[in-house]
Amino acid sequence: MITGKYPSLRLRRNRKSSWARRLIQENNLTPNDFILPIFLIDGKNKKLPIKTMPDVYRYSLDKLNYVVEKAIKKGLPMIALFPNTEKKKKNEIGSEALNEDNLVCRAIQMIKKRFKNEIGIMCDVALDPYTSHGHDGILKNRYVLNDETIKVLIKQSLIQAEMGCDVLAPSDMMDGRIGEIRKTLDKNGFEMTQILSYAVKYASSFYGPFRDAVGSKGLLKGNKKNYQMDFRNNTEALREVALDIKEGADMVMVKPGLPYLDIIKLVKENFKIPVMAYQVSGEYSLLSSAIKKGLIDKEVILESLISFKRAGANAIVSYYADRLDEIVK
Ligand code: PBG
Repeated sequence: MITGKYPSLRLRRNRKSSWARRLIQENNLTPNDFILPIFLIDGKNKKLPIKTMPDVYRYSLDKLNYVVEKAIKKGLPMIALFPNTEKKKKNEIGSEALNEDNLVCRAIQMIKKRFKNEIGIMCDVALDPYTSHGHDGILKNRYVLNDETIKVLIKQSLIQAEMGCDVLAPSDMMDGRIGEIRKTLDKNGFEMTQILSYAVKYASSFYGPFRDAVGSKGLLKGNKKNYQMDFRNNTEALREVALDIKEGADMVMVKPGLPYLDIIKLVKENFKIPVMAYQVSGEYSLLSSAIKKGLIDKEVILESLISFKRAGANAIVSYYADRLDEIVK
């Protein structure tokens, strides 16, 4: 309740100096709030820039230890691995996803061997980095088949779990995949492998730069609207989350982030489950390029990240995660 009135009440009194403002701060960021995405690429000694994502790179596996070590030093609890798969390894059904020697599998093993349990590893479950058409599943007559795709996702999940992945993150939006993946994991002795479901994933143009980063941009035929959510909808998000919780999700993701703060809040208020937000590539690139051009001050980064916390997110996937100490002052 708001009580009191001007002039005896002056809300500006609590803002009169830095210490006074710090005293009443309601939301803050710590390294524990962040997950760092890392893009992987074949080859040796490579740190390749991504044209549409300023200051973000694709790393060859021999550079990975350095990147992960930095993330650990910065205090981040988890990294997320994304492969840029060579074009010649992509096909209609994304079979490279099931190759135990693919980029992600090799990376998980390397990181686990070197860093054990010092940092969590999260891996996408979806076929888009591996399909020649850039879709997240098996395509038939321009439609992504649900149940046929799940069969492959189950195998992809199990392989990644076997390699040592800590958190599987299905980002494909097929119906029923969380339950099927959970069942398979449990049957095979991976009852402690967590599932972070991308439960609420909108069909968004904010993913553009990411598709550039993983090399699916020019390949994508059509759009992803027959499986990812319509951005006009909000209550539908609750149905998606409810189902995934029933099926065994440990955490859920809302994605993109900034244009969907209302959804983060909605999910958080309706379910007692950890909610993650993904500040996606397009959000990142908009902010970063405007800052680089001098159009806007870099404090917009902190301002945007804090908004996720205000909305109720437990953690944020962000391409800024490894540079927070430069941003959060
Ligand atoms: C793929 C996937 C996407 C992102 C994460 N996993 C892209 C998509 O669905 O097309 C986007 C991340 C970003 O834009 O930063 N399933």
